[in-house]
Amino acid sequence: MEEQLSLDFLRVVENAAIAAARTMGYGDRHHADEVAVEAMRKTMDSVEIDGTIVIGEGERDEAPMLYIGEKVGLATHAPKALFPQVDIAVDPLEGTNLCATGAANAIAVLAASDRGGLLHAPDLYMEKLVVGPSCKGAVDLDAPVADNLKSIAKRLERDVEDLVVVVLDRPRHEKIIADIRAAGARIRLIGDGDLSAGISSAVIGTGVHAVMGTGGAPEGVLTAAALRCLNGQILARLVVSKPEHAERLAKMGVKDTKRIYDTEDLAPGKKMIFACTGVTDGNLLKGVRFFGEGIRTSSMILTLDDRQVRFIDSVHLEKRPDIKVRFN
Ligand code: FBP
Repeated sequence: MEEQLSLDFLRVVENAAIAAARTMGYGDRHHADEVAVEAMRKTMDSVEIDGTIVIGEGERDEAPMLYIGEKVGLATHAPKALFPQVDIAVDPLEGTNLCATGAANAIAVLAASDRGGLLHAPDLYMEKLVVGPSCKGAVDLDAPVADNLKSIAKRLERDVEDLVVVVLDRPRHEKIIADIRAAGARIRLIGDGDLSAGISSAVIGTGVHAVMGTGGAPEGVLTAAALRCLNGQILARLVVSKPEHAERLAKMGVKDTKRIYDTEDLAPGKKMIFACTGVTDGNLLKGVRFFGEGIRTSSMILTLDDRQVRFIDSVHLEKRPDIKVRFN
């Protein structure tokens, strides 16, 4: 599945990113999300899969969405038997506010797996602790922040004071921020986008050593899909703060609402493809660049089976026959 489909999924995230990037800075996050969703849906329908959206985005904030259970891929137009069954988690525009304001790290994302390979989590909040390969197995979601930071520093052979922890800038994180500061580590507060921060924590050289705090569950599952391929770790627990959350989870077959999920629990698939394209400039990926004659995109494709990490710089030439391609 992986080799054949990764280029198709690359087109899907590239087109969603291009559509969203056209709206950058317009101050309209819903419109940005809507055009990304539409571009993603349209391109996905040309991919030779019998796909089902298992994690969509939008339920929590009533945004336009590729809804959970939606069928996607060429199988929606042709006999199903011809195409592989694929579960898909999408976030057509991760960081709608980032795109609407032209801030860093908005991305278009999807993860695909064999059936059952991505947790069917509802669009609730999720507590998360994300680290890279060197720190796998060294952290505990319920340990004091200072202990986790000490373990991370030890594995990275540096001092706690050298660490950078990414945290979403939210009032709910007051305590975690205070604990990180008290332990002596440095913090990068972000307005949005804990998914791209999670991916960065698993890539050496990004300057991100961990992500801590509570964000969206869909973003958590997508982070897990990326980290399976990058050999990092996410520990997570759904935030069940209202009786209706527990009821919804029960309907979905989740009995233990306090369960701590590890990376493989969130994304257990044997086969996994993770694809993302930068919408705005970010830590790992450049944003979409429009230059009159064409469009340039920067993407990352991860595949689990063959352990490939691809950074892909595409120049989209469709506009004019006399295109001039620049090296960088
Ligand atoms: P959107 O893509 O829907 O704008 O979400 C961005 C995001 O910041 C995620 O990265 C994060 O997991 C979640 O929202 C946090 O939710 P909230 O903004 O409600 O704190």
